[in-house]
Amino acid sequence: MKVLLLGSGGREHALAWKIASSPLCDALFIAPGNPGTADCGQNVDLDILDFPAIHQFCLDEKIQVLLVGPEEPLVRGITGFLRRQPDLKDLIICGPDAVGAQLEGSKAYAKAFMAESGIPTARYGEFNRDQVDEAIAFLDTFTPPYVIKADGLAAGKGVIICQEKEEAIQSIRGMFDGEFGSAGHTVVLEEFLAGIEFSVFALTDGKHACILPVAKDYKRIGEGDTGPNTGGMGAVSPVPFIDQQMMEKVMQRIVAPTISGLTRRQIDYQGFIFFGLIAVEGEPMVIEYNCRMGDPETEVVMPRLSTDLLQMLVAMHERKLDTITVEMDPRTAVTVMLVSGGYPGSYPKGLPVLGTDGTPPDHTWLFHAGTRQIGDQLVTNGGRVLACTGMGSDLREAQSRAYALAGKICFDHVNFRRDIGRDLE
Ligand code: AMP
Ligand code: GLY
Repeated sequence: MKVLLLGSGGREHALAWKIASSPLCDALFIAPGNPGTADCGQNVDLDILDFPAIHQFCLDEKIQVLLVGPEEPLVRGITGFLRRQPDLKDLIICGPDAVGAQLEGSKAYAKAFMAESGIPTARYGEFNRDQVDEAIAFLDTFTPPYVIKADGLAAGKGVIICQEKEEAIQSIRGMFDGEFGSAGHTVVLEEFLAGIEFSVFALTDGKHACILPVAKDYKRIGEGDTGPNTGGMGAVSPVPFIDQQMMEKVMQRIVAPTISGLTRRQIDYQGFIFFGLIAVEGEPMVIEYNCRMGDPETEVVMPRLSTDLLQMLVAMHERKLDTITVEMDPRTAVTVMLVSGGYPGSYPKGLPVLGTDGTPPDHTWLFHAGTRQIGDQLVTNGGRVLACTGMGSDLREAQSRAYALAGKICFDHVNFRRDIGRDLE
């Protein structure tokens, strides 16, 4: 089969590596890809938001499977656009249409969906720019900290958590005044949930769901979960405190009602659903949905997924995911993200990266995230630069392999957390 994968981060490198390992894969193109994905297939210079150009590429290269990595093309409707093309009627597309992608694209939509489907989540209120006074008054129905969310996509930055009411009011006003562009024209205020977060991933064909390995990511920049939020500084899979009993609760109370809710709303959802969950006193609740895989969770989930992903995508298209048994490597995977000094604030790009030559040692993977190749030299090209994944028979072994790989790589002002997985020991 000929596959086109959209995206250019660590998630896409991990997906590209997995797809390329499938005996069903005849050709893999990655648009635009990165120097890491170039080892798994052919990078192509396509804008992932230029849907007519992607349509034409699919025709020219006789693409049979399209896998959309990031959320933006999905929220902007790539799936519906391509499904409307009569000459692409057999294309397998992994990723929902614009309505399904609203689960991620609009927090207000997701909250209403969960309320309607009886899915456990934080109590909330939704307010638009004409309801400033109502929004401020609604804060009094909570005890601090206050959770304020811009409704739309805000590159992972649209959630503000504050202790003081005055700060909460300023945050609400800031969102309405356009701090996050149109994403903040509607805000969601919700109850703060205290617990431990974890990520569950499902691949759904609209009727059935296959559950992928569970992961935990580390969002804060600083060790001990301190400092500002980032896209993710590392991840671990599996998560020791998520046992069979917890997964059964997740299936019954969250995954199954989500699939039924999509059916009730007549949303034909084929693709990944990422459930951002929190265990509150042992009970799972939803913090957020995403309509794609997580990053850096994919960098630990794909190495642990033994089942052929391409075979799963074919079954998804045929609505036969119930016939797939997801096989997982029982070992533990840990990934450590090497980031540019200054990230998640401003940081330089173009710094030479040393130590990445050759094949990584057994049981390790080096996934490129923000890198660029200039002639023979690899240079930094983003905040999150490289994900170093190690697999081992236990958490300790996986950590030591991931950190040994990380220790070989250097670029000026490299930063990484040294405590990925430590809270799970
Ligand atoms: P989101 O963009 O919705 O994933 O939110 C980003 C992060 O904010 C989450 O991963 C949580 O750590 C935190 N967060 C969001 N909503 C809540 C909530 N209701 N209670 C506690 N923490 C939250
Ligand atoms: N790691 C969280 C995300 O991908 O949104």
